[in-house]
Amino acid sequence: MSEKRRILVTSALPYANGSIHLGHLLEHIQTDIWTRFQRLRGNECYSVCADDAHGTPVMLKAQELGITPEEMVARTRAEHHQDLIDFHVDYDNYYVTHSPENKAFCEEIYSRLDNAGYISKRVINQLFDPEKEMFLPDRFVKGTCPSCGAEDQNGDSCDVCGATYSPTEVKNPRSVVSGATPVLRESEHFFFDLPKFEDMLKTWIRSGALQEEMANKLQEWFTEGLQQWDISRDAPYFGFEIPGAPNKFFYVWVDAPVGYMASFKNFCDQNSLEFDDFWKADSTAELYHFIGKDITYFHCLFWPAMLEGAGYRKPTGVNIHGFVTVNGAKMSKSRGTFIKGRTYLDHLNPEYLRYYFASKLSDGVTDIDLNFTDFAQKVNSDLVGKVVNIASRCASFITKRFDGKLSDNVIEPELIAEFQNAADGIAEQFEKRRYHQAIREIMALADKANQFIDNNAPWVTIKDESKQQFTHDVCSLGINMFRLLTIYLKPVLPILAEKAESFLNDEFNWASLQTVLTGHAINKFKPMMQRVDMEKIDAMIDDSKESLAPQQPAIAPDSPLAQDPISDTISFEDFAKIDLRIARIANAEHVEKADKLLRLELDLGGETKQVFAGIKSAYAPEALIGKHTVMVANLAPRKMRFGLSEGMVLAAGPGGDDLYILEPHEGAKPGMRVK
Ligand code: 2FM
Ligand code: ZN
Repeated sequence: MSEKRRILVTSALPYANGSIHLGHLLEHIQTDIWTRFQRLRGNECYSVCADDAHGTPVMLKAQELGITPEEMVARTRAEHHQDLIDFHVDYDNYYVTHSPENKAFCEEIYSRLDNAGYISKRVINQLFDPEKEMFLPDRFVKGTCPSCGAEDQNGDSCDVCGATYSPTEVKNPRSVVSGATPVLRESEHFFFDLPKFEDMLKTWIRSGALQEEMANKLQEWFTEGLQQWDISRDAPYFGFEIPGAPNKFFYVWVDAPVGYMASFKNFCDQNSLEFDDFWKADSTAELYHFIGKDITYFHCLFWPAMLEGAGYRKPTGVNIHGFVTVNGAKMSKSRGTFIKGRTYLDHLNPEYLRYYFASKLSDGVTDIDLNFTDFAQKVNSDLVGKVVNIASRCASFITKRFDGKLSDNVIEPELIAEFQNAADGIAEQFEKRRYHQAIREIMALADKANQFIDNNAPWVTIKDESKQQFTHDVCSLGINMFRLLTIYLKPVLPILAEKAESFLNDEFNWASLQTVLTGHAINKFKPMMQRVDMEKIDAMIDDSKESLAPQQPAIAPDSPLAQDPISDTISFEDFAKIDLRIARIANAEHVEKADKLLRLELDLGGETKQVFAGIKSAYAPEALIGKHTVMVANLAPRKMRFGLSEGMVLAAGPGGDDLYILEPHEGAKPGMRVK
C-alpha cells in the first residue's frame, strides 16, 4: 500500500436542543464507515464531532426547562454521545462548541478577519419582542402573509401561496416567544465580506472538493451574487461575546464550524498530536466534512472563506448527502416514522441500520428511503441468510469432526483468489463513498460462497468415510470465504466482524485479505446475528407515535374532529359546482426556494395540469410519481411566484407531516369525474 495518509473527518454537529434521530444517523453512520475503512487500510484517520450548543432555540429551550443553557447542553451532549456510541459510531472526540478552545479560535479567527479588513458594521432594522426584550429570528415571528392574506404564516414564508418575504413585511406580526406584537428596532450588526472571496471560492468548488452536482448548484449562487454575511446577534443570546463589542455575540453559524477545529484541538492536547499539522494553510493532511445538503451554503461558502481569510487550510472535500425518508414519505411524528436513535435501539440491532444505510448510500445527494419491509428483507436475506449462514453451515463439522482446526489444504485456490482480487475494487467503492456498490460486490461474493457449499454438499459427504479430507477442505474453504467477507464488511459491521474475529482467533485489517487460514484453530461457532422481527419494527413505530393535540369535550380524543369540527352545511348546488377529477401524478418535483410546495404535473387523461401543492412536509416527490389522486379541476388558476397553479389536489390532515393525499380505489382512471 502507498504511504500512510493523514486524514481528519467530521460530521455536522447536532444541535443541543433535540434528540438524535434516524436522519442524523444516516450521516454519522456514513462518516463512521468511511473512517473505519481508512483505519482498516492502515491510514492515520481521526474523526471528531461535538454538540452545537449556541443560538436562540437552545437558549429558549433551556428557559422553558428552567435550567441554564450550560446545564441543558451538558445533558444533551451526554445523551447524544451515548446514542452514537450505541450505534458503534466511533468518534475520537465528541466535544461541545461551548468550550474554551472554541472561544479562543473564534476570537482569533475574528480578529484575523477584522485586521485583514473583512469585517464591517452597519445598522439594521429588526423585529424586537418588547415583552421578552429580545430581537426575534425569522422563525420566531408569525403573522398574516403580505402576499395572499393567509393568517398564521411563518415570518419568512407562506404555506398557502409559497411566497417568501422578510419578517418586517408580515401583517399583524406576533412573537412566537411571548405572543406580543413585535416592534421594529435598530441595531448595529457585524458583517463578513463574503463577496471578496468570490474568485477563491469559484476555484475551490471546482478543485474536486465537491460532488459535481453540488458544484453546479453553487454556481447558481454565484450567479445570484454573494452577499455580506451578518455574523452578529444581540443579547440576550447564548453564545460567545464578540471581543470589544459588549452585548454582541457571534451568530451560532460562526462558531459551529469552528467547533470542528476546537474538538480536534481538545483531542490533540490529550493525545500529543500536532494540531497545526492538520490545520495550517499549507497542511498536507486531508480534511473532510460530511454534511446534509441543507447546510451546503454554510460549509461551501462561508466556512472556506473564513478559513482562507484567517490563514487556515480549506477542506479537501465536503461530502454532501440527501435526507432520510421513511416508507416513501418525510419522517412524521404522527405516523411514528420520526424515530429517535434511542427508540430504535430499544427495539432493533444497530448493525441492521448500518447495513441498510450502507446498502443504499452512494456518493450522490439523492434522498435515502428507509422502507421497513425492504429493510427486514435485506438484512435477513443478505446478512443472516447469506453471510452468517456460510459460517454456520461449515463450522460445526470443523468443530465436531476435525478437531476445531482448518485444513492445511486450499481446495479451490482460484475461488479464494477471486475473493482476494476483489479487494482493490471494493476499496475504491468505499473510498469514493459508493457504499451501495461495495455492498453489491460483497454480496455477489457471498452468493458464490453459498453456491460452492451447495455444490459440494458437505452435509452429505461427511457421511462418507472416504470423503473426509474433501469435506474438511470444503468446510475450511467456506470458513475462509466467510472470513474474507467479514473483513470487507468490517467498516459497516464492526460488531459482526468482532464476533468473527473471536470465532476465528484472528484480527482483521485490509492486509489480512491476502492471507488464507490453513491448519488454523478456530472456536465453536455461536450465532452472530438474529433475523429482523417485523413485530419489533411495529413496536418501534408505535413507540415513536406522538399523540395529537388535546381533545375537545364529547368527541373521542383520537378523533380528528376534536381538532377540526365539521363546518356549516352548504347546498347541493354549491357542492355540484366543484369539478372533482381523478388525476395521475405524472411528475412531482421540489420547487426552488419554496419550503412547503411541490410542483405536480397531473394527468387528467388527455390534459395535463400543473399544480403547486403544499405537501412537501409530508411527501418526498419520488414517492408520489405514478400515484392516482383527486383534484379540483375547475378551480380558477392562480398565479404564484413559481408559476401558474391550475387546480388543487385533495389531502386530509392537520398539516405538516400529518397530511395524506386522497387515493381512489384501483381501477379509477385519470379524468373520471368524482361524484
Ligand atoms: O444544521 C445543524 O444541525 C447544525 N447544528 C450543523 C452544524 S455543522 C457545523 F458547522 F458545526
Ligand atoms: Zn401567502
